[in-house]
Amino acid sequence: MIVPRIFSGMQPSGELHIGNWLGALRQWVELARADTHETIFCVVDAHAITVDYTPSEMRSRVLETAICYLAAGLDPQRSAIFVQSDVRQHTELAWYLASCTQMGELQRMTQFKDKAEQHKNNVNAALFTYPVLMAADVLVYKATLVPVGDDQVQHLELARDVARRFNQRFGEIFPEPTPRLSKAPRIMGLDGAAKMSKTKGNTIALSDAPDVVWNKLKRAFTDPQRLRRTDPGRPEVCNIFTMHQAITPPETVAQIDRDCRSAAIGCGDCKKIFFDNVMNELGPIQERMRAWSAQPDEVRAILRDGAERCRAIAESTMSEVRQCMGLGAGA
Ligand code: TRP
Repeated sequence: MIVPRIFSGMQPSGELHIGNWLGALRQWVELARADTHETIFCVVDAHAITVDYTPSEMRSRVLETAICYLAAGLDPQRSAIFVQSDVRQHTELAWYLASCTQMGELQRMTQFKDKAEQHKNNVNAALFTYPVLMAADVLVYKATLVPVGDDQVQHLELARDVARRFNQRFGEIFPEPTPRLSKAPRIMGLDGAAKMSKTKGNTIALSDAPDVVWNKLKRAFTDPQRLRRTDPGRPEVCNIFTMHQAITPPETVAQIDRDCRSAAIGCGDCKKIFFDNVMNELGPIQERMRAWSAQPDEVRAILRDGAERCRAIAESTMSEVRQCMGLGAGA
């Protein structure tokens, strides 16, 4: 019997921010609680080595990211939570899948083009084959549903193509995974310039204290054409409004929409409502973050247990894969 599975992962960027939470984590928690699928959530450290990094910092980044998964409300009893490189079958499958992937397909990946541009002095082969490892992450568990942000849809399409090609050549092993986009549209950074990201320093971190959050919000970018308090605003171009849509009750959102357009409220008023709502959500997350941070050994035990569960599933797929590809000495 095939158990329907959900797989997703995030890079160990250390401390996560509200963009990660609204765009991904919150939905993972919902999907896990719905109990329609077996759920597997990974900290993808092997993907993180495709850009320059400091080895001595990697493990703490991984741990912090795992703590954010738990603090967001993932339940380790229900979901397997683990670190990618603890399950070697991912990298093994990535090599095999690379033989079913064309250079041209990888060259078309917009994330590769962007990252190659950003890291001109380190365009390494792993950065290029990043999407193949991502396909392996999903396929090694035969996962069919993959919650991701819109920037990962192209990578998943590649995973589907690779799975189809593998199946045609070697036999029906892999189901084709489908992306599931989160309800929250893309969360931009507070500078309004790009997607919220730690390296850009335009985030609200999940652990930010209320005064820090308010100071960041005060300076946050809104509608660039709304210069004076009396200017009518355009919620559709305002990132604060986008974030409201993700956490504020719909009636209040509708009210804000009207009051912004008529200049009945200013950006400061709107930010204050957002501040209250976001702190309401962050409060319990921060409490759990403190609790988990105080017991790192406990978190590591959860990750080891998750890896063990995942290894069993992944190895069963890999023995099928080696068999149908004719690899190994055989029994
Ligand atoms: N590439 C994804 C990102 O940057 C992270 C990731 C790696 C992933 N492997 C995955 C997401 C498998 C979903 C499924 O966000």
